[in-house]
Amino acid sequence: MYLTPEEEKTLDGEYGRSLQKAIEILVALGDIYGADRLIPVKSAQIAGVSYKTIGDAGLEWISDLKGEVKIPSVLNPAGMDIARWEEMGIDPVFAKKQQEIIEAYARLGIQTKCTCTPYYLEGFDIRMDDHIAWSESSAVSYANSVIGARTNREGGPSALAAALVGKTANYGYHLDQMREPVIAVEIDCHLEGADYGALGYLAGKDIGSRVPIFYMKDMPSKDEMKSLGAAMAASGAVALYHIEGVTPEAVRNKFARPEEVITVERKQIDDVYETNKDMAATEIITVGCPHCSPKELEEIAELVDGKKLIKEMWVCTAREVAQRHPDLVQKIEKSGAKIVCDTCMVVSPAANRYSSMTVNSGKALAYVPSMCKVAARYASITECIKEAGVLDEN
Ligand code: F3S
Repeated sequence: MYLTPEEEKTLDGEYGRSLQKAIEILVALGDIYGADRLIPVKSAQIAGVSYKTIGDAGLEWISDLKGEVKIPSVLNPAGMDIARWEEMGIDPVFAKKQQEIIEAYARLGIQTKCTCTPYYLEGFDIRMDDHIAWSESSAVSYANSVIGARTNREGGPSALAAALVGKTANYGYHLDQMREPVIAVEIDCHLEGADYGALGYLAGKDIGSRVPIFYMKDMPSKDEMKSLGAAMAASGAVALYHIEGVTPEAVRNKFARPEEVITVERKQIDDVYETNKDMAATEIITVGCPHCSPKELEEIAELVDGKKLIKEMWVCTAREVAQRHPDLVQKIEKSGAKIVCDTCMVVSPAANRYSSMTVNSGKALAYVPSMCKVAARYASITECIKEAGVLDEN
């Protein structure tokens, strides 16, 4: 792989051990995947934040690093709401470790906004064809597919390395030829709302890590595409998808229809809603996987307006998004639902206290049983709120 004289000096340790370690990671990945060079990236999103997932070894690794990131960089969700962890029932020992992880990242100049939807944040307005280094799988899918930016599915260490160096190795989804669809998915029915998460949950299993192109009757919204991509990244490992006539690259490039085709029928989508239908009564309802957009908060606020929920309900979103919409936060919390920031139902140990959960996310449906050991059921947002048990406020 070609390195500039400056990059060679970094690799030789002239700018310190941390930058040397960072560029070593990038060069090793570049060598494995046949990159020709390093390319500049516009922003980084770094996974490996929840103490639940990285533990003491991860904390030690981050704490040892010195220096300052060269590009706008942000974190993935942590294991707790940074401000309201006590209300979530988080153990103080866990909370202390979680704070230490966040402080270690902050010392490197990383913004301590913990979210899987960095594309809603100020300063992260990425555009088509921008090169970035993001690591949370749903954020990667959204950036590549809905925005048309270019990122590989980075691991926590490689995204952090890219943030410190300001570059990444030029391979995978940074290259035109790796972004072409190789499998077609035909949808033979109309879809709306949570149907897209159900579709992603199903299709991801067959697609694996390939690039699909969907042929569908409807024009999905950005939130619906967010749900589709998140679910496919969890049940499979899809980092980029196209929708004929909808997503930016499919519109620009007019891809040829791949030979391999799978078809999804209404009955298969309906079956996802039947998953675990006979599970014991739901103890908690969680929505906001990926973190809610302002539009989703608005929809939830309208649905719960003037109601009192009986069961516990979390609405997960980025703190910055919640702060920009205090009116919606207030309306939602008045119903008894909790706005949960910085974390989610999968990466927080607070979710492990429950035995059953209803979710409106195909990604959460795939991960909650394995990562939290909690039985999960799938429902639309309207059904989730019904499941929460609604009393009229009057
Ligand atoms: Fe985000 Fe957590 Fe879902 S990180 S995509 S809300 S599993």
